[in-house]
Amino acid sequence: MRKNRILAAMAMAAMTFVSCSTDYETKAGRETERKVEDLLGKMTLEEKIGQMNQLSPWDFGELAAKVRNGEVGSILNYTDPELVDSIQRIAVEESRLGIPLLVARDVVHGYKTILPIPLGQAATFNPEIVEKGARMAATEASSDGVRWTFAPMIDIARDPRWGRIAESCGEDPYLTSVMGAAMIRGFQGDSLSDPSSLAACAKHFVAYGAAEGGRDYNSTYIPERLLRNVYLPPFKSAVDAGCASFMTSFNDNDGVPSTANSFVLRNILRDEWKFDGMVVSDWTSISEMIVHGFCTDATDAAEKAVNAGVDMDMVSEAYINHLAASVKEGNVSMNTIDDAVRNILRLKFRLGLFESPYVSTSQEVKYCDEHLEIARKAAEQSVILLKNSQETLPLSDRTGTIAVAGPMADAPYEQLGTWVFDGEKSYTQTPLEALRALYGDKVDIIYEPGLCYSRDKSMSGIAKAVAAAGKADVIIAFLGEEAILSGEAHSLANVELQGAQTELLRALSKTGKPLVTVIMAGRPLVITEEAEISDAVLYSFHPGTMGGPAIADILFGKVNPSGKTPVTFPRMLGQIPVYYAQNQTGRPANAEEMLIEEIPVEAGQTSVGCRSFYLDAGTSPLFPFGYGLSYTSFEYSGLDLPAGSIPRDGELTFSVNLKNAGKHDGTEIVQVYVQDKAGSVTRPVKELKAFQRIFLKKGESRRVSFSVPVSELAFWGYDMKYGVDPGDFTLWVGTSSANGLSADFNVY
Ligand code: NOJ
Repeated sequence: MRKNRILAAMAMAAMTFVSCSTDYETKAGRETERKVEDLLGKMTLEEKIGQMNQLSPWDFGELAAKVRNGEVGSILNYTDPELVDSIQRIAVEESRLGIPLLVARDVVHGYKTILPIPLGQAATFNPEIVEKGARMAATEASSDGVRWTFAPMIDIARDPRWGRIAESCGEDPYLTSVMGAAMIRGFQGDSLSDPSSLAACAKHFVAYGAAEGGRDYNSTYIPERLLRNVYLPPFKSAVDAGCASFMTSFNDNDGVPSTANSFVLRNILRDEWKFDGMVVSDWTSISEMIVHGFCTDATDAAEKAVNAGVDMDMVSEAYINHLAASVKEGNVSMNTIDDAVRNILRLKFRLGLFESPYVSTSQEVKYCDEHLEIARKAAEQSVILLKNSQETLPLSDRTGTIAVAGPMADAPYEQLGTWVFDGEKSYTQTPLEALRALYGDKVDIIYEPGLCYSRDKSMSGIAKAVAAAGKADVIIAFLGEEAILSGEAHSLANVELQGAQTELLRALSKTGKPLVTVIMAGRPLVITEEAEISDAVLYSFHPGTMGGPAIADILFGKVNPSGKTPVTFPRMLGQIPVYYAQNQTGRPANAEEMLIEEIPVEAGQTSVGCRSFYLDAGTSPLFPFGYGLSYTSFEYSGLDLPAGSIPRDGELTFSVNLKNAGKHDGTEIVQVYVQDKAGSVTRPVKELKAFQRIFLKKGESRRVSFSVPVSELAFWGYDMKYGVDPGDFTLWVGTSSANGLSADFNVY
């Protein structure tokens, strides 16, 4: 059953762009529509516009008066269950029509028990644990009265300078589609009307991740074909997964703010995809259209947003203050208002709010053992082993003395990452605590952090850390970023390690002791030198509450790392944007390029090769997409893709032999990439089309089978139509986007 759901999710992410079915065909669906129409028929214009107004409460008395008067449809940021019930009681028992409020909160990667940030969850390549994590978060948040979360964030993020890459599932449309759908299933559960379910919200619609220069809120310039081929597929997959709501993004794309973009909100989301959920603006993104210079005043902004298809105004109050007059003046039709209100009421009925408006806190679920275990498993699976020279890891019980250094070894707040409004650091288990608790009876641990926090530039503690390292058999340096350095509005122009962290690592490496570097960060940092001078490197996108035990068990080999990079790691800052699925240039780089240090003085202009590469950074990133080592080694052989041609409506069916040829049991993420050799427009050099997590005991082999519908090779071509171009393709099956066994095939 579980397996079927995962396969179904993957199929959903296949982006076949069939229209999704609504539930109007079902009896329950028709009944909901009848109730919506019934209620709508009783509402005044003012009450309708009240439903379209979302507020973040300030003074309870003022809020209560507005709710009583039918001026509010939703609130965000109330998490005290008693307060939630008090305001809900006013909506239900004291407002004229008794319409319950929708209570929202950003439950992004956990509510109290914090999971790895979404980028870390994506590194698990495991939709099952991601779904469980979202379910856990829903259970905890709903126990405080929250019924709507602003997640998943499924923006494609290809620029690590952009702080919000932390909240994303990385650079790849397929992986993001699979993970986003898993989160939606987890938040929404089997039924939205279950009081422990949250309505999910796919955000930010759309292209927000392409902010120019990686600076948050910046303009984007994504043409329609790229929008459809790269940025829209995760959102289509969210609709197919039954996502209850969408949020518009802050950016303007080619001059049109998303909050007024009727092409994406009406033509694509409603007409093409048949979305019947609710669309909310981002926080004041309606009134910000005035600042953008796209609207003259709040009336203009409200009219443009509602006419474009934004149903609910998040806190700008442009709707509540201006829409009634706009309707009376004929600038907004009554039909437009009615449609928006239908979408809002439909969601309230689907959530069962009319039957059960109040918080049902029968059981204390926050930080329960089951949730801590889910967070621990997710953290374990999210850690990526980037380097392991001479089997430095895993450490053994006989290691002797370990010197623990670095500002992230014992930083309970920082390892939780961005978007943690409710999780408490007092519940965090740090790596230092976990090493002491789990392995302190077997090894001696000396802790000298060297730096107080990640931006600390003071060199005064480094000598002590080096002295401690001198007494140890192994050094573990915990480096990275504080939580505040990634997330919304936290973009960086330089994504190298902050403060004196590199100096600390250099000093530690000079001791000549085996050096293990563990990085906890909100983005892929440029760590070229740090990786070079370390013997082993573990990378953990901020791992959450249970990051400590997860990392400690990986260091000691109780858990074998299996995470893979969901995003490319640049070798140098100036390579950004660097992502694996780039279009093929007419002059692709080749291995013979001459790098800057090899170029003779007075070299001839064309002697270095006229190819697409950087003289100083070469041709490759530091770590490619899909990369991650294990303590064991996996061998691929016998790819059996049948030769010959496959029809456009056929299936690519193939299998590969995977052997655990190393000394440890372990999990491999088997990845399938495809290249369309010639299309009606240039095509990416590779695109991820499928993956599977395979656990093998040491010495064990298994044939891993795939069946990928040829329809998944479709794209929006020259004529802006969606379809598969017949012709030649190459397929790779392997351990990352950078290598694998390959076979050619033809589609007719
Ligand atoms: C602004 C952010 O862009 C969005 O992601 C978030 O959900 C809202 N604020 C509400 O907090």
